[in-house]
Amino acid sequence: MKVAIVGATGLVGGQMLKVLKERNFPYTELLMVASSRSVGKEIEFDGKTYKVISMEDAIAAKPQIAIFSAGGGTSLEYAPKFAEAGITVVDNSSAWRMDPSKKLVVPEINARVLTKEDKIIANPNCSTIQMVLAIAPLHDKYKIKRVVVSTYQSVTGTGKAAVDQMMAERAGKTLTKEEMAYPYRIDMNVLPHIDVFQENGYTKEEMKMVKETVKILEDESVKVTATAVRIPTMGGHSESVNLEFENEFDLAEVRAILENTEGIVVEDDVKNLVYPMPINAHNRNETFVGRLRRDETQEKSLNMWIVADNLRKGAATNAVQIAEYLVKSNLI
Ligand code: A2P
Repeated sequence: MKVAIVGATGLVGGQMLKVLKERNFPYTELLMVASSRSVGKEIEFDGKTYKVISMEDAIAAKPQIAIFSAGGGTSLEYAPKFAEAGITVVDNSSAWRMDPSKKLVVPEINARVLTKEDKIIANPNCSTIQMVLAIAPLHDKYKIKRVVVSTYQSVTGTGKAAVDQMMAERAGKTLTKEEMAYPYRIDMNVLPHIDVFQENGYTKEEMKMVKETVKILEDESVKVTATAVRIPTMGGHSESVNLEFENEFDLAEVRAILENTEGIVVEDDVKNLVYPMPINAHNRNETFVGRLRRDETQEKSLNMWIVADNLRKGAATNAVQIAEYLVKSNLI
């Protein structure tokens, strides 16, 4: 099993390598792929030294699977070329997610939709994955009418340049506009702005959460409204989520459902100050849920707090789980 990591020099690419190894993914050969800027550079991984290769050389090497995390433009251009060569692509960018012919997969929820014909499979947005993982089993049980979500997102989601900006600011350096990944200072600040603004006043990140959630739940009746916010943290994304259900729920039952959901860890014991935080979610593959409480202003409504490492379940782990499912189900 030859596996190509496209974007191997990036933050998500690095996590993909770790997750493949930790989960004993059955690879026999790894191809490290990045832009022409990095070709020939060396990557140390698991006691071996790999040379970074180009996209063209990766296609020529015909891996069975390529996991992409190299930006939307790269995916739009290259995923079809890999697919034409018979290589199954799991793509972490937003390029293919809303394409009706492409599957958008969180394995715990909808891996069953995958078939041998799926050559480009989309990994959802990091903020969508952790939210949908926690709300899908509640939707099954109580039917969600409306979701109101506000995010508190880690700088790692923007990539290396953003982490560099925050750390430089923290060290007291003044950066030029060219050196900054964000339009403003991020350390000691909060930016209500992730990805580009759309005609409707929402950002693209917010609209990804709206549209992707509906696609994964396969239910257009679910209404989602989102505010996506970047905060100066690194370990993961946090989300305040308010759910309005069609049906009445019992809080203890909600907790039990979440406790029995694969991939979820309930951390909800406020008497002992137990609640999810990015500092604890860092480098973990699970999604953490807490602060479960009734919305006292509205019937059949619940408030919750959801945290996950955006580079793990929000990106690398979910993509590797898709690859695992493809292998296990003989789909590649
Ligand atoms: P490179 O290091 O050569 O630029 P991050 O989001 O952490 O910045 O990582 C982005 C990843 O995507 C890097 O591995 C980067 O490689 C890769 N990448 C960016 N543009 C391209 C491209 N045109 N072709 C292939 N890989 C790309």
